[in-house]
Amino acid sequence: MSSRRFEPTRGLAGTVAAPPDKSISHRAALLAAMSEGSCRISGYLDAADTRSTLAAMEALGAAVEIEEEGGGRLGVRVRGVGLRGPRAAKPIDVGNAGTLIRLLSGWLASQEGQSFELSGDESIQRRPMGRVIDPLVQMGARIDPDPDPPGTPPLRIEGAALHGIHYRMPVASAQVKSCLLLAGLLAEGETVVQEPQPTRDHTERMLAAAGVPVRSEPVSALPTAPSPARVTVSAVERLRQPDLTVPGDLSSAAFHLVAGLLVPGSVVRVEGVGLNPTRVGLLGILNRMGARIEVEESSFQAGEPVGAVTARHGELQATRVDGAEIALAIDELPLVALLGCFAGGETLVAGAEELRHKESDRIATVVDGLAALGADIVAHEDGFAVRGTGGLRGGRIAAHGDHRIAMLGAVAGLASREGVEVDGVEAAAISYPGFEADLASLR
Ligand code: S3P
Repeated sequence: MSSRRFEPTRGLAGTVAAPPDKSISHRAALLAAMSEGSCRISGYLDAADTRSTLAAMEALGAAVEIEEEGGGRLGVRVRGVGLRGPRAAKPIDVGNAGTLIRLLSGWLASQEGQSFELSGDESIQRRPMGRVIDPLVQMGARIDPDPDPPGTPPLRIEGAALHGIHYRMPVASAQVKSCLLLAGLLAEGETVVQEPQPTRDHTERMLAAAGVPVRSEPVSALPTAPSPARVTVSAVERLRQPDLTVPGDLSSAAFHLVAGLLVPGSVVRVEGVGLNPTRVGLLGILNRMGARIEVEESSFQAGEPVGAVTARHGELQATRVDGAEIALAIDELPLVALLGCFAGGETLVAGAEELRHKESDRIATVVDGLAALGADIVAHEDGFAVRGTGGLRGGRIAAHGDHRIAMLGAVAGLASREGVEVDGVEAAAISYPGFEADLASLR
């Protein structure tokens, strides 16, 4: 484990190209492997998590050719095995990737006559899989999780004939929704998934592009955008994913943008960022906090709006984040805690118990981590409250193997009075290997 010190600074300036989107990269590789024929994915994220997905697709029989495109991007050509073609002689290692294990379970559960074992690192072996196992079992799946702790990987899957269900998800999770939609492609009858709050809709967009009739209807008549959706799929004969270029990841770009907002005298611009309405919850939160943020939507890539976001240092006010905004900003909530340390008043995040089930218990790791740096922050069962004190002292923070906590610590250091030492800084490479170099380019 390595540690790195991030010293206080002033006047961050420059432009960063957003690294490729992790969620879309996982889905692109998976849908390409499920397709017939070959597909080229350009701008595929070169990070530990998305490398795990490429290795898993190869282990299932897909032919994967990789070339470096530079700047943390891969050009990947995948020749798929088709919807009914995955075979695996050995257990599949998903590494740290929750998206991979949950989405893959949906596809593999429908492979009659085949068996699979899915496992991963220490963090994956603690993550709850009941949320996908329960509805898949209702569809006829046979999945055996590990008993310790109950309902966690390794998962043993005996492929079975599935039938569609109408499922109201108890948690707002794009991973669960996506898992069931993939299972629905091979199930008899209609599979209908209804979400309690809007969640990222990359899978629906990509399935439609691959030739699947996906029906997504808003379930709320309230004029909130976006609305929770009821999504319907039926069995299809084949997928044919077109070539695509992965847009940039707002969840990664957010670290630079927040650094720009917090470090005095800064102007930071991030280009090529995906601006899908189901991903931009953070931008709404920042607006309410009075942040000086400018968004320019410029193009469409892989069915997703893309643009540039510029952040300028300025004063911030506290805000309350709850309800539908939680899922739309789920991976950015640690940054909301950091912003709250600098904002006038008390910032409250509520209804976010899902944070406890991420790569680490992100309520505990964020609250303990920032408190050790001098923040006035308390944990609640479903979120946290942070009182702005006009700054942050600094000190030492442990990443706990969680990429987003490692990057949070780095940004906190730049904005702090005394600097921050991040233990386990290498965890950033799970989603963003070029993070430190990109951050340094702004100094
Ligand atoms: C993801 C969905 C979210 C998010 C994760 C990626 C996805 O998880 O936190 O980083 O790619 O679908 P949940 O679906 O569990 O909320």
